[in-house]
Amino acid sequence: MTNSSQMPKEEGLDHSLTLLREGYMYLANRRKSFASNIFETRLLGQKAICLGGEEASKLFYDNDKFMRNGAAPKRLQKTLFGEGGVQTLDEEEHRNRKTMFMSIMTPSHLEHLKSLTHKYWDLKGSEWEQKEQINLYDESRELLCQLACEWAGVPLNESELKKRTEQLTKLFESASALGPEHWMGRHARKELEDWVGEMVEQVRNKELSPREGSALYNFSIHRDIDGKLLDKEIVAVEVLNIIRPIVAISVYITFTGLAVHQYPENKSRLLKNEEQFQQMFVQEVRRFYPFFPMAVARVKKDFIWNNFQFEKGTLTLLDLYGTNHDPNLWDNPEVFNPERFEGWDESPFSFIPQGGGDFNMGHRCAGEWVTIEVMKVSLQYLSNKLDYEIPNQDLSYSMVSIPSLPHSKFIMANVRSKPQ
Ligand code: HEM
Repeated sequence: MTNSSQMPKEEGLDHSLTLLREGYMYLANRRKSFASNIFETRLLGQKAICLGGEEASKLFYDNDKFMRNGAAPKRLQKTLFGEGGVQTLDEEEHRNRKTMFMSIMTPSHLEHLKSLTHKYWDLKGSEWEQKEQINLYDESRELLCQLACEWAGVPLNESELKKRTEQLTKLFESASALGPEHWMGRHARKELEDWVGEMVEQVRNKELSPREGSALYNFSIHRDIDGKLLDKEIVAVEVLNIIRPIVAISVYITFTGLAVHQYPENKSRLLKNEEQFQQMFVQEVRRFYPFFPMAVARVKKDFIWNNFQFEKGTLTLLDLYGTNHDPNLWDNPEVFNPERFEGWDESPFSFIPQGGGDFNMGHRCAGEWVTIEVMKVSLQYLSNKLDYEIPNQDLSYSMVSIPSLPHSKFIMANVRSKPQ
């Protein structure tokens, strides 16, 4: 007999549809109504434990207690992640693969990324001067597709830019979709994996020579824990695990545009062009706006935490959005306030828009520094380097669609470069 307590429990056969209906707020709503950072429910036809808050997030990222193999639903692997990717690995195999990812995140590679971000913003900025108005989400997806391919060492012809941008977008836009949109996502993944897979063969045959240190180069020569090269299909999945999420930064760039527009009280500090404030501003964009609602894992072995029993194999969800808005961790969490990051304690478990814990040992997002650097450069253009008007449009955003975006996708009119 164990002395464990009964977890607050949501009654009912299955709540998958409620989760789709309530979107980003599903976990936070129940944590609030149960007044508990842990509760039990049923999702995808099985028992699930839901966690939120700093202590629970520390637990969730304990590799001795949770594993990822068999956690992510197949439909996400068929669209968003790809099969056999780093997200589904555990232990030694995960550490080996994660080292491969982190090998391209060096200070000099990040400097290169920053200079490419400037280059493509300058190019886009000049193009936009020729147009009456532009749509920031659509334009930044193209900008990021070029940037991502160049940084990753993947050759991209101008003529295929639109097609590849659309295919990469389908991977993250179709991830939570049902029906035809989901199937379009699967089709796009197949085409993209074939495209990159062929390049991996060319690199290995020395017909293609991407820059040393680029994702295509490093991943094509990477060796697994048995000393073997990865299958070319797996390399393609992992190179896409770099390119796809860089294109997805377009969601954050669009929200950055919205924040610059809707919170003009930050204008004078942004105009000073100080890196420290830019950093705080993009951190607040990542905390405040919805993007990834949750992370998933499975209990690795039976254990008791805070008197609650966890049984091996149980599906477990961590509330990312709700933890970033947790009133026990953030003062006035529903207020957009970059200055809250002044003197922030940098806990890896309370601010978790891209997962928490350690980069190398755990599943925290490999691209968090990439995201922050690209957003900071983009913020400079949106707040300092470009003049533009914001015509009337629907700037509201849904708390249910994943990923969420302002409904108009942020239209900017009469864009002009500011004399510097
Ligand atoms: C666009 C904004 C982004 C968001 C909101 C985001 C969010 C996330 C989240 C929530 C996770 C899962 C954490 C977990 O399972 O515990 C993750 C993992 C990951 N992300 Fe990102 N990410 C973003 C950008 C990027 C970028 C730019 C890259 C690559 C350049 C990237 C590469 C990865 C990889 C490889 C993983 C898997 C890590 C692992 O399983 O060890 N992400 N991301």
